[in-house]
Amino acid sequence: MKNVFITGASSGIGKALALAYAKQGFTIGLTARREEILHEVALAVKELGGTPLVYQLDVQDAQKCKSVAEQFMEDAGGIDIAIANAGIGGDDGLFSGDSNQINTILNTNILGVTNTLMPFIPMLKAQKSGAVVCISSVASFMPVPFHGGYAGSKIAIRMIFDSWRSTLEKYNIKTVSICPGFIDTPLVTGAARRFPMKSANDAADRFLEVIDAGYTTYIYPWPYRIFIWFVRITPGKFYKWMIKKM
Ligand SMILES: NC(=O)c1ccc[n+]([C@@H]2O[C@H](COP(=O)([O-])OP(=O)(O)OC[C@H]3O[C@@H](n4cnc5c(N)ncnc54)[C@H](OP(=O)(O)O)[C@@H]3O)[C@@H](O)[C@H]2O)c1
Repeated sequence: MKNVFITGASSGIGKALALAYAKQGFTIGLTARREEILHEVALAVKELGGTPLVYQLDVQDAQKCKSVAEQFMEDAGGIDIAIANAGIGGDDGLFSGDSNQINTILNTNILGVTNTLMPFIPMLKAQKSGAVVCISSVASFMPVPFHGGYAGSKIAIRMIFDSWRSTLEKYNIKTVSICPGFIDTPLVTGAARRFPMKSANDAADRFLEVIDAGYTTYIYPWPYRIFIWFVRITPGKFYKWMIKKM
Protein backbone atom coordinates (compact mmCIF):
# COMPACT_ATOMS: atom_id res chain seq x y z
CA MET A 1 0.00 0.00 0.00
CA LYS A 2 1.36 3.42 -0.95
CA ASN A 3 0.39 7.00 -0.17
CA VAL A 4 0.04 9.82 -2.68
CA PHE A 5 -1.00 13.42 -1.98
CA ILE A 6 -2.50 15.41 -4.88
CA THR A 7 -3.49 19.08 -5.05
CA GLY A 8 -6.13 20.16 -7.55
CA ALA A 9 -7.82 16.77 -7.37
CA SER A 10 -11.32 18.16 -7.98
CA SER A 11 -10.87 18.44 -11.76
CA GLY A 12 -8.84 17.69 -14.87
CA ILE A 13 -5.37 16.19 -14.53
CA GLY A 14 -5.44 16.02 -10.71
CA LYS A 15 -8.70 14.09 -10.68
CA ALA A 16 -7.44 11.75 -13.44
CA LEU A 17 -4.22 11.11 -11.46
CA ALA A 18 -6.30 10.26 -8.39
CA LEU A 19 -8.41 7.76 -10.35
CA ALA A 20 -5.31 6.19 -11.91
CA TYR A 21 -3.64 5.77 -8.48
CA ALA A 22 -6.93 4.36 -7.11
CA LYS A 23 -6.69 1.49 -9.60
CA GLN A 24 -3.29 0.65 -8.04
CA GLY A 25 -4.77 0.58 -4.53
CA PHE A 26 -3.12 3.75 -3.23
CA THR A 27 -4.24 5.83 -0.25
CA ILE A 28 -4.86 9.21 -1.88
CA GLY A 29 -4.93 12.66 -0.30
CA LEU A 30 -7.49 14.56 -2.39
CA THR A 31 -7.22 18.32 -2.01
CA ALA A 32 -8.71 21.41 -3.67
CA ARG A 33 -10.88 24.38 -2.67
CA ARG A 34 -14.22 22.80 -3.76
CA GLU A 35 -14.71 20.20 -1.05
CA GLU A 36 -18.10 18.91 -2.25
CA ILE A 37 -16.58 17.93 -5.61
CA LEU A 38 -13.70 16.21 -3.82
CA HIS A 39 -16.24 13.99 -2.06
CA GLU A 40 -17.61 12.93 -5.46
CA VAL A 41 -14.04 12.11 -6.60
CA ALA A 42 -13.56 10.20 -3.32
CA LEU A 43 -16.54 7.94 -4.16
CA ALA A 44 -15.02 7.15 -7.57
CA VAL A 45 -11.63 6.48 -5.94
CA LYS A 46 -13.25 4.01 -3.51
CA GLU A 47 -15.06 2.21 -6.33
CA LEU A 48 -11.75 1.75 -8.16
CA GLY A 49 -10.05 0.22 -5.11
CA GLY A 50 -8.25 3.23 -3.60
CA THR A 51 -8.57 4.78 -0.13
CA PRO A 52 -9.50 8.48 -0.36
CA LEU A 53 -8.74 11.10 2.29
CA VAL A 54 -10.34 14.48 1.59
CA TYR A 55 -8.96 17.86 2.70
CA GLN A 56 -10.26 21.28 1.67
CA LEU A 57 -7.23 23.40 0.77
CA ASP A 58 -6.27 26.64 -0.96
CA VAL A 59 -2.63 26.23 -1.99
CA GLN A 60 -2.04 29.96 -1.57
CA ASP A 61 -2.39 29.44 2.21
CA ALA A 62 1.05 28.25 3.40
CA GLN A 63 -0.03 27.54 6.99
CA LYS A 64 -3.01 25.45 5.89
CA CYS A 65 -0.81 23.53 3.42
CA LYS A 66 1.55 22.64 6.26
CA SER A 67 -1.22 21.52 8.61
CA VAL A 68 -3.02 19.52 5.89
CA ALA A 69 0.26 17.81 4.87
CA GLU A 70 0.93 16.87 8.51
CA GLN A 71 -2.64 15.63 8.93
CA PHE A 72 -2.36 13.53 5.74
CA MET A 73 0.93 11.93 6.86
CA GLU A 74 -0.73 11.06 10.19
CA ASP A 75 -3.99 9.77 8.64
CA ALA A 76 -2.31 7.79 5.85
CA GLY A 77 0.68 6.66 7.92
CA GLY A 78 3.27 8.36 5.70
CA ILE A 79 3.96 9.82 2.29
CA ASP A 80 5.43 8.30 -0.86
CA ILE A 81 4.49 10.74 -3.62
CA ALA A 82 3.50 14.42 -3.29
CA ILE A 83 2.08 15.96 -6.45
CA ALA A 84 1.75 19.76 -6.74
CA ASN A 85 -0.77 19.80 -9.55
CA ALA A 86 -3.15 22.67 -8.61
CA GLY A 87 -2.79 25.58 -10.97
CA ILE A 88 -4.68 28.24 -12.83
CA GLY A 89 -4.38 29.69 -16.31
CA GLY A 90 -5.42 33.07 -17.57
CA ASP A 91 -3.91 36.18 -19.07
CA ASP A 92 -1.80 38.76 -17.29
CA GLY A 93 -4.32 41.61 -17.32
CA LEU A 94 -1.52 43.57 -18.93
CA PHE A 95 -3.63 46.69 -19.44
CA SER A 96 -5.70 46.42 -16.25
CA GLY A 97 -3.61 48.93 -14.35
CA ASP A 98 -2.91 46.64 -11.42
CA SER A 99 -1.09 43.42 -10.59
CA ASN A 100 -4.02 41.41 -9.13
CA GLN A 101 -4.55 39.12 -12.09
CA ILE A 102 -0.93 38.23 -12.79
CA ASN A 103 -0.08 37.97 -9.08
CA THR A 104 -2.89 35.48 -8.44
CA ILE A 105 -1.43 33.28 -11.19
CA LEU A 106 2.12 33.63 -9.82
CA ASN A 107 0.98 32.99 -6.22
CA THR A 108 -1.06 29.92 -7.09
CA ASN A 109 1.32 28.38 -9.60
CA ILE A 110 4.66 29.08 -7.87
CA LEU A 111 4.06 29.57 -4.14
CA GLY A 112 1.25 27.01 -4.33
CA VAL A 113 3.85 24.45 -5.39
CA THR A 114 6.37 25.29 -2.67
CA ASN A 115 3.58 25.56 -0.04
CA THR A 116 2.43 22.08 -1.05
CA LEU A 117 5.74 20.27 -1.25
CA MET A 118 8.03 21.74 1.42
CA PRO A 119 6.10 20.19 4.37
CA PHE A 120 6.64 16.69 2.96
CA ILE A 121 10.38 16.94 2.34
CA PRO A 122 11.60 16.27 5.93
CA MET A 123 9.73 12.95 6.05
CA LEU A 124 10.84 11.95 2.54
CA LYS A 125 14.43 12.78 3.55
CA ALA A 126 14.20 10.78 6.79
CA GLN A 127 12.84 7.68 5.06
CA LYS A 128 15.21 8.08 2.08
CA SER A 129 12.56 7.35 -0.53
CA GLY A 130 9.67 8.89 -2.44
CA ALA A 131 8.95 11.51 -5.06
CA VAL A 132 7.95 15.14 -5.39
CA VAL A 133 6.17 16.05 -8.61
CA CYS A 134 5.18 19.35 -10.19
CA ILE A 135 2.99 19.93 -13.21
CA SER A 136 4.84 22.52 -15.26
CA SER A 137 3.89 23.06 -18.92
CA VAL A 138 5.09 23.20 -22.52
CA ALA A 139 4.38 26.94 -22.04
CA SER A 140 7.52 27.04 -19.87
CA PHE A 141 9.60 26.65 -23.04
CA MET A 142 8.17 29.56 -25.05
CA PRO A 143 6.99 33.15 -24.61
CA VAL A 144 3.20 32.93 -24.92
CA PRO A 145 1.72 36.40 -25.58
CA PHE A 146 -0.51 37.77 -22.78
CA HIS A 147 0.35 34.75 -20.61
CA GLY A 148 3.70 35.84 -19.18
CA GLY A 149 2.56 35.06 -15.64
CA TYR A 150 1.50 31.54 -16.56
CA ALA A 151 4.60 30.75 -18.66
CA GLY A 152 6.87 32.40 -16.06
CA SER A 153 5.29 30.42 -13.22
CA LYS A 154 5.84 27.18 -15.10
CA ILE A 155 9.51 28.01 -15.82
CA ALA A 156 9.98 28.93 -12.16
CA ILE A 157 8.77 25.59 -10.81
CA ARG A 158 10.76 23.65 -13.41
CA MET A 159 13.89 25.57 -12.38
CA ILE A 160 13.18 25.04 -8.67
CA PHE A 161 12.97 21.30 -9.36
CA ASP A 162 16.18 21.35 -11.45
CA SER A 163 17.86 23.02 -8.50
CA TRP A 164 16.44 20.66 -5.84
CA ARG A 165 17.24 17.52 -7.84
CA SER A 166 20.96 17.22 -7.09
CA THR A 167 20.31 17.56 -3.34
CA LEU A 168 17.22 15.41 -3.06
CA GLU A 169 18.62 12.54 -5.15
CA LYS A 170 21.19 11.96 -2.36
CA TYR A 171 18.20 10.95 -0.22
CA ASN A 172 16.71 8.81 -2.99
CA ILE A 173 13.90 11.34 -3.55
CA LYS A 174 12.77 11.69 -7.17
CA THR A 175 12.02 15.19 -8.51
CA VAL A 176 9.72 14.92 -11.52
CA SER A 177 8.67 17.95 -13.58
CA ILE A 178 5.89 17.08 -15.98
CA CYS A 179 5.39 19.47 -18.89
CA PRO A 180 2.09 18.79 -20.67
CA GLY A 181 0.92 20.38 -23.89
CA PHE A 182 -2.83 20.82 -24.31
CA ILE A 183 -4.82 18.35 -22.22
CA ASP A 184 -8.61 18.34 -22.43
CA THR A 185 -9.61 19.91 -19.09
CA PRO A 186 -11.66 22.96 -18.04
CA LEU A 187 -8.40 24.96 -17.90
CA VAL A 188 -8.22 25.04 -21.69
CA THR A 189 -10.69 27.64 -22.94
CA GLY A 190 -11.45 29.78 -25.99
CA ALA A 191 -9.26 29.56 -29.09
CA ALA A 192 -6.88 27.14 -27.38
CA ARG A 193 -9.57 24.44 -27.63
CA ARG A 194 -8.95 24.35 -31.41
CA PHE A 195 -5.61 22.60 -30.80
CA PRO A 196 -5.38 18.80 -30.67
CA MET A 197 -5.71 17.68 -27.05
CA LYS A 198 -4.93 14.48 -25.18
CA SER A 199 -7.49 13.21 -22.68
CA ALA A 200 -6.74 13.74 -18.99
CA ASN A 201 -7.09 9.99 -18.35
CA ASP A 202 -4.55 9.03 -21.04
CA ALA A 203 -2.19 11.71 -19.73
CA ALA A 204 -2.57 10.52 -16.13
CA ASP A 205 -1.86 6.89 -17.05
CA ARG A 206 1.39 7.96 -18.70
CA PHE A 207 2.32 10.32 -15.84
CA LEU A 208 2.07 7.45 -13.33
CA GLU A 209 4.63 5.48 -15.37
CA VAL A 210 6.87 8.54 -15.66
CA ILE A 211 6.76 9.21 -11.90
CA ASP A 212 7.42 5.57 -11.11
CA ALA A 213 10.38 5.49 -13.49
CA GLY A 214 11.78 8.70 -11.96
CA TYR A 215 11.97 10.84 -15.11
CA THR A 216 13.38 14.33 -14.45
CA THR A 217 11.65 16.61 -16.99
CA TYR A 218 8.97 14.99 -19.11
CA ILE A 219 7.27 16.67 -22.07
CA TYR A 220 3.92 15.14 -23.08
CA PRO A 221 2.82 14.18 -25.67
CA TRP A 222 6.05 13.60 -27.59
CA PRO A 223 5.35 15.83 -30.69
CA TYR A 224 5.73 18.84 -28.38
CA ARG A 225 9.43 17.93 -28.00
CA ILE A 226 9.87 18.61 -31.72
CA PHE A 227 7.76 21.77 -31.47
CA ILE A 228 9.89 23.10 -28.58
CA TRP A 229 13.09 22.35 -30.49
CA PHE A 230 11.62 24.10 -33.56
CA VAL A 231 10.69 27.19 -31.52
CA ARG A 232 14.22 27.29 -30.05
CA ILE A 233 15.94 27.33 -33.44
CA THR A 234 13.38 29.59 -35.12
CA PRO A 235 14.31 33.28 -35.61
CA GLY A 236 12.22 35.62 -33.38
CA LYS A 237 10.45 37.23 -36.34
CA PHE A 238 9.20 33.89 -37.61
CA TYR A 239 8.02 32.86 -34.12
CA LYS A 240 6.03 36.11 -33.88
CA TRP A 241 4.44 35.45 -37.27
CA MET A 242 3.62 31.85 -36.32
CA ILE A 243 2.00 32.85 -32.98
CA LYS A 244 -0.08 35.49 -34.78
CA LYS A 245 -1.33 32.89 -37.26
CA MET A 246 -2.13 30.43 -34.47
N1 LIG B 1 -4.85 21.28 -19.29
C1 LIG B 1 -3.73 21.62 -19.92
O1 LIG B 1 -3.68 21.75 -21.17
C2 LIG B 1 -2.46 21.85 -19.13
C3 LIG B 1 -1.27 21.99 -19.84
C4 LIG B 1 -0.10 22.19 -19.15
C5 LIG B 1 -0.10 22.25 -17.77
N2 LIG B 1 -1.28 22.14 -17.08
C6 LIG B 1 -1.24 22.24 -15.63
O2 LIG B 1 -1.88 21.11 -15.05
C7 LIG B 1 -2.37 21.45 -13.76
C8 LIG B 1 -3.82 20.98 -13.64
O3 LIG B 1 -4.60 21.72 -14.56
P1 LIG B 1 -5.90 21.14 -15.28
O4 LIG B 1 -5.69 21.29 -16.72
O5 LIG B 1 -6.25 19.83 -14.71
O6 LIG B 1 -6.95 22.28 -14.86
P2 LIG B 1 -8.33 22.22 -14.09
O7 LIG B 1 -9.18 21.12 -14.60
O8 LIG B 1 -8.84 23.62 -14.13
O9 LIG B 1 -7.90 21.85 -12.59
C9 LIG B 1 -7.21 22.73 -11.78
C10 LIG B 1 -7.26 22.21 -10.37
O10 LIG B 1 -6.52 23.08 -9.53
C11 LIG B 1 -7.32 23.41 -8.40
N3 LIG B 1 -6.97 24.73 -7.91
C12 LIG B 1 -6.91 25.90 -8.61
N4 LIG B 1 -6.55 26.91 -7.79
C13 LIG B 1 -6.37 26.36 -6.56
C14 LIG B 1 -6.00 26.88 -5.31
N5 LIG B 1 -5.74 28.18 -5.11
N6 LIG B 1 -5.89 26.02 -4.26
C15 LIG B 1 -6.16 24.71 -4.42
N7 LIG B 1 -6.52 24.15 -5.58
C16 LIG B 1 -6.63 24.98 -6.64
C17 LIG B 1 -8.77 23.33 -8.88
O11 LIG B 1 -9.63 22.99 -7.83
P3 LIG B 1 -10.60 24.00 -7.04
O12 LIG B 1 -11.10 25.01 -8.04
O13 LIG B 1 -11.66 23.09 -6.52
O14 LIG B 1 -9.74 24.58 -5.98
C18 LIG B 1 -8.68 22.14 -9.85
O15 LIG B 1 -8.84 20.94 -9.14
C19 LIG B 1 -2.21 22.97 -13.63
O16 LIG B 1 -1.06 23.25 -12.86
C20 LIG B 1 -2.01 23.42 -15.06
O17 LIG B 1 -1.28 24.62 -15.15
C21 LIG B 1 -2.46 21.94 -17.74
